[in-house]
Formats: sequence, structure tokens, C-alpha cells
Amino acid sequence: RTDPLVLGIETSCDETGIGIVRGTTLLSNTIASSMDEHARYGGVVPEIAARAHLDELVPAINAAIAEAGIRLHDLDAIAVTCGPGLSGALMVGVGAAKALAVALDKPIYAVNHLVGHVGADLLHRSIHTSMTDTSDAVPLEYPTIALLVSGGHTSLLLVRDLVSDVELLGETIDDAAGEAFDKVARLLSLPYPGGPQIDRVAADGNPKAIRFPRGLSQPKDMAAHRYDFSFSGLKTSVARFVEQRQDAGEPVPAADVAASFREAVVDILLTKALAACADYGVPRLLLGGGVIANQRLRQVATERTDAAGIALRIPPLSLCTDNGAMIAALGAQLIMAGSEPSTLEFGADSTLPV
Ligand code: KG4
Ligand code: ZN
Repeated sequence: RTDPLVLGIETSCDETGIGIVRGTTLLSNTIASSMDEHARYGGVVPEIAARAHLDELVPAINAAIAEAGIRLHDLDAIAVTCGPGLSGALMVGVGAAKALAVALDKPIYAVNHLVGHVGADLLHRSIHTSMTDTSDAVPLEYPTIALLVSGGHTSLLLVRDLVSDVELLGETIDDAAGEAFDKVARLLSLPYPGGPQIDRVAADGNPKAIRFPRGLSQPKDMAAHRYDFSFSGLKTSVARFVEQRQDAGEPVPAADVAASFREAVVDILLTKALAACADYGVPRLLLGGGVIANQRLRQVATERTDAAGIALRIPPLSLCTDNGAMIAALGAQLIMAGSEPSTLEFGADSTLPV
């Protein structure tokens, strides 16, 4: 069927995301975040996230259908993130999606969060066209390499077909990139979430002041871990640098530390992503995840893809961070591809593979 009306539910981390799409047309994208409640712990607390989803889900659904100007009975299907993510958080979304699907007697599609991030690009493609007419929406071009970087994941995907052929090339073997930003911000006594703070402080720093290590990026590492990421060594290296200054009673050059750290992360991310583009002969790179807000990452990504003749796609930030619209968009693609809906037996799977 063409252009199904789908409601997407995303609760894999700290964002309660409800999105509604018609095919590739975005009708609403409601996001409630429990970020503030996690701030004093310096990271997402799973129990708090799950509880916040319980509080936010129904208001978010109501807000989304009001914004989209639809009634729940108009929906063709419900799509929901069933993994990967935080178990308790996922369970809230999965339970709500099943309840809605049963109550409304609509099909349900359980989808993968990471693949959903790629689906966000579909909405970006139609967002500049009329909100009601999708006829000139540009389809996703295949294959594409996707680099997804957030507080919860750092993954490199080869997407040959959104619905049927997404391959995980590599991912972080320790911390996620956003997590590294949050931890380094903490070392510099900056508040959570750390990414925007590091970005701000780094603006006045010299990215070449300190040569921090680029995990898994040396030639010897590239053989065994060509598309994998590691940020814990980098974080430890920053911690050691800061401690040495403090022990010596010297001031910590926060701007230089932030700029040099950020430069290392950006270098690692793009070295791997461009290696994948080159290896697979793919002249397209799609970025997703909250870390894509990073100013330096955007700048260097633009420079390096330009130089390599690679088309760079960065959806608007509201579609890059976790959201329900991307999940709805993926659900709509599954329907249009003729995929069977999920049976109600599925559950939340915190380690769901791509
Ligand atoms: O996608 P997102 O909103 O939520 C999940 O992690 O699921 O990403 C949040 C992460 C946090 O770790 C935050 O510090 C990071 O993205 N972040 C940034 C920036 N803005 C947010 N990291 C680097 N630079 C930024 N400007
Ligand atoms: Zn995500």
C-alpha cells in the first residue's frame, strides 16, 4: 500500500519520542526528554528513564495526534523500537505499542533503533516539499554508509536497502562517543550533557595543543578493528593529563583540552567512516545521533567528504537525536515493501542486533 499512516514509539533511552508519518511525510515529531532528571547523576539512569517514559507516553501520544490532526483510528499501523537500548525503557514503549495495537486492532511493527536512525533521512528528503504531497520526495539512495553517534551508540552501518539489507560494519568496543564527551566534560567540571559544553569551551582552544590518542586508528589496529571504535583510552589519557596539571598545582587549560579531545573524537569517527566509504566504493555518507550536533564534527565531515567526492547527508537535529518519527518512517517503509507485521510475541531486546 502507498503512504501508510504510521505512529512510531521510541523509548530506548531517555527520550520519549512519538512520531507520526504518512509514507515519507512527517506529520508530527513529539519528544519529551528526561535528560534533566539524569543531570545530577552525570549520565542516564535506567530506572529513572523507564519511569519517565511511563509518565510521558500518553501525553506525548495525545500531543502527536493533535499536531498531526489525525485520530488514532485513522492509523494504518503502529511501529515501535524493540531494541537495542535500555531494557526497562524499551519495555515501556513496547508495552504501550502492543496495547495500542490491540485496542485499535491495527498491525504492529517492531523495529531496530539503529535502522530507525537511517530511516530519519527519508523524512529529511521530503521535509522541504509540501507537507501533504510526497510525490516529489527523493528516495534513499543506496548503498550508503551511515555513521550513528550518540550517548548510547557509536555504529558504522552499510545500508544496501533500509528494509532488507543493513549490515553492521563496526561499533564501539567500550564507550559511546557521546559518553566520552560526557565523561571528559565531567573531568573539566562541566555540567551534563557534556557534548554541547565541550563544543562551547573548545571554541576558544587549540585543537593541536595536546596530541591525544586516536583509539583503534593506527595502521596495526586498522587491520583487526577497521570499523570499530574505542574511546576509553582517549578518556583515560585526558584524565591523566588533567590530573598531572592538578598535581603540579598548574591550571588546567580547559579550552585546549576540550578542543584537542574533540579533535581526536572527530578524527577517529571520520577516519573510520571514510575508510568504509572507500573500501565499499560507496560515495554517500549519512550521519545520525545526538553527537552530530557537534560543530567541529560537522565542519570536518564536510571538508573530508568534499575532498573525497562523497555526498554527505545530515538530517536536521530533531531527526538525528532519538525520536519517534524515524521509527514511524521505518515502519511505513516496511509496510510499503510488503513486510508482514510482527506478532505480539516480540519483547524488548536490549542487545538486538542490526
Ligand atoms: O542522541 P542523543 O540525544 O541521545 C542518546 O544518546 O540516546 O545523544 C546525546 C549525546 C550525549 O552524550 C551528548 O553529550 C551528546 O549526544 N551531544 C554532543 C553534542 N550535543 C549532544 N556531543 C558532542 N557535541 C555536541 N555538540
Ligand atoms: Zn539513538
